[in-house]
Amino acid sequence: MMMKKWQRNAPCWCGSGKKYKMCHEAFDERILSYEKKGRIVPDRSLIKSEKDIEGIKKSAVINMTVLDEIGEKIHAGMNTQEIDDIVATTTAKMGGIPADLNYEGYPKNVCTSINDQVCHGIPSKDVILKDGDIINVDCSTILDGYFSDSSRMFMIGDVDPEWKKLVEVTKECMEIGIKNVIPWHFMGDMGHAVHQHALDNGYNVVKEIGGHGCGLEFHEDPFVSYVSKPGTEMLMVPGMVFTIEPMVNMGTDKIFIDEDNGWTVYTDDGLPSAQWEVEVLVTETGCEVLCS
Ligand code: MF3
Ligand code: CO
Repeated sequence: MMMKKWQRNAPCWCGSGKKYKMCHEAFDERILSYEKKGRIVPDRSLIKSEKDIEGIKKSAVINMTVLDEIGEKIHAGMNTQEIDDIVATTTAKMGGIPADLNYEGYPKNVCTSINDQVCHGIPSKDVILKDGDIINVDCSTILDGYFSDSSRMFMIGDVDPEWKKLVEVTKECMEIGIKNVIPWHFMGDMGHAVHQHALDNGYNVVKEIGGHGCGLEFHEDPFVSYVSKPGTEMLMVPGMVFTIEPMVNMGTDKIFIDEDNGWTVYTDDGLPSAQWEVEVLVTETGCEVLCS
């Protein structure tokens, strides 16, 4: 979208209170130069203000506290409804709202995806964690209208070394993603680096589901792919906030959705899948992890 020209002496659109010419004018011109070359660039709605960033960070404190608590309490024999209960109770105690609940009709407070479940596993008292399981707990919080989103893997008891490796390499994929968030580079540079590390280890990355802008809404533009090509996708600029959340499959990247609940995504071959998620802010020099 073409950006509106801003009056040079008017207060900057970012809300800093500074004159536009002393604030985001050069930034806008730099973005415009990429847009003229036909590149995908973010519009102003995707650039977070200082106030927005503070709000997202406060929301993230709750999200990370909830995941810490789950990390302390998770064990074999526990059912995944108990995980949902921790999310509900702790989030409420800290003044937040679980973002998942009722999101497009989602019935629970959190996603708990075990083994061959790629994502959107629905907590249930009938799903009991057992020794050797790997589970992703994907948690999202709203506080004062600001969204935070992150997920972690947990290994239950004695996990097969091959499965442990999948969990560890997937974490490395996320970390490589973080290192490759560089302002004025492209999302595709980052996505490609993530993908390459998975491929180097013989794994495959899910294509259809990816990350997203996040902060003022749960899911904002852009869609963040981890199978993208260098130099493609949206330009990364300071002030953008998005998630890095690759879903890495030990076997095929083919997936299917549970027909009964309409949510849970599985690997087509029944082999395990892992995912780690962080929410990052693009800075002048790289990125800052806001939620992990
Ligand atoms: N937390 C997920 C994400 O990382 C979204 C879950 S949506 C839900 O984007 F409805 F399934 F909860
Ligand atoms: Co997310």
